[in-house]
Amino acid sequence: MGPLQIKDLLLQAPESQSVTLKGWVRTKRESKNAIFIALNDGSTINNIQAVAQPGQFSPELLLTVTTGSCLKITGRLVESMGAGQNVEVQIEDLHVYGTADVDTYPLQPKKHSLEFLREIAHLRPRTNTFSAILRVRHTLAFAINKYFHDKGFFYLHTPIITASDAEGAGEMFRVTTLDLDKPPRTDEGKINYKEDFFGREANLTVSGQLEGELGAMALSKIYTFGPTFRAENSNTTRHLAEFWMIEPEMAFFELQDNMDLAEDFVKTVITYALENCKDDLNFLQNRLAEEDKNKPQNERSLPLLEKLRFVVDNPFERLTYTEAIEILLQSKPHKEKKFQFPVGWGIDLSSEHERYLVEKHFKKPVILTNYPREIKSFYMKLDDDGKTVRAMDVLFPGIGEIIGGSQREDNYEKLLERVNEVGIDPETIWWYLETRKFGTAPHSGFGLGFERLVLFVTGMTNIRDVIPFPRYPKSAEF
Ligand code: 4AD
Ligand code: MG
Repeated sequence: MGPLQIKDLLLQAPESQSVTLKGWVRTKRESKNAIFIALNDGSTINNIQAVAQPGQFSPELLLTVTTGSCLKITGRLVESMGAGQNVEVQIEDLHVYGTADVDTYPLQPKKHSLEFLREIAHLRPRTNTFSAILRVRHTLAFAINKYFHDKGFFYLHTPIITASDAEGAGEMFRVTTLDLDKPPRTDEGKINYKEDFFGREANLTVSGQLEGELGAMALSKIYTFGPTFRAENSNTTRHLAEFWMIEPEMAFFELQDNMDLAEDFVKTVITYALENCKDDLNFLQNRLAEEDKNKPQNERSLPLLEKLRFVVDNPFERLTYTEAIEILLQSKPHKEKKFQFPVGWGIDLSSEHERYLVEKHFKKPVILTNYPREIKSFYMKLDDDGKTVRAMDVLFPGIGEIIGGSQREDNYEKLLERVNEVGIDPETIWWYLETRKFGTAPHSGFGLGFERLVLFVTGMTNIRDVIPFPRYPKSAEF
């Protein structure tokens, strides 16, 4: 079953037992009396210290023990005199699986900028910051599955290749095949692709919602958790071309139930991370504090753990879109014409408006509901006034929209009307419309952008730093 992980070894009592460690060298330090190797295997932010005596190993071998090299160490686990660690290993045997050339290995023990690390996405998981983020990301993914499982939801695997454009925004990547009737490349050297996927138009999914609704009309409560794709050319710190989305869909839930679930859900998974990622979150908090040192007092952020606890401990503010517009119209930036985009009923709120509401006005997460029908998707249930729909967006400090959802239109005629209104050919979503013909039911759901949640929990500021291999226009080559 492989060696004991360093996270478990660090918790063992130092009884001089023999242990085997495998991992990568973070640092090597030589003094007159000893050689200290800090080893990390990614199981924890903490390194284990391994100590050798001068002369114990040949200078040739020790030269290959470099930052980034991979080792197998056998030795005795003993009490450590070093600060911040209970145990260390007295090395008896040392094997170098692979050295890492000091002149070319990019991750030398010094501070690297996040921009630089983005260029070496193949190696950045070996840094403290990224390994911490990846462990927090894993823990959140686990907590999400656990949350829904515990609440009686079923994990529904919705397709990645689909014909539908769930959001109707036209931001799809087309799926095609090579055109085998033509030469592999055109005269200009471009690959010869067909127009479609074996005679049908197909694209990468932008959302699993529509298929999720089919599941909810049979299993009552389902959720999807998978990659989704948006072919938008937006180079922001909040958008990716490939991101993971969690989309629960529930029969017999109205908008109010949907909001209650969304709030309980994010609070529960953040709490799980607080309880299970203490070392990593402490590390990330200290990292932020370090960055903040150079900023003026009023620009410093709340310590990460305090920020997370605040969100977990306080009710989210709930108000309608119309009420939010009123607040924005009364606001200082509106009156002083400081918003880039003018405010008025009917506008699609931009992130400056959302952030004003969350960060300046309410100073806590906000759920906005009942948006104008014109700016929301076709599937949202129309309100009685005919002007607004039962939409809800959850807005978070520092992030903006983290969740988008709604109660769904369950009336066949009204849905068909909306489908026609927004220019979707009803033929292409006949299967979706049929759910409203056969045993329709009130139902609701929402989508949480997973990377936006990971951004919030880790305190990072660029979405490209919270997914192992970010995809965005002109992103990395693998
Ligand atoms: O608001 P969106 O587009 O809603 C839907 O896709 C619905 N079908 C969800 C549902 O009701 N089942 O996306 C939902 C969330 C957003 O709130 C945001 O957190 C995230 O997905 N998101 C993105 N995250 C990263 N990069 C992008 N390009 C994103 N677009 C949306
Ligand atoms: Mg949205």
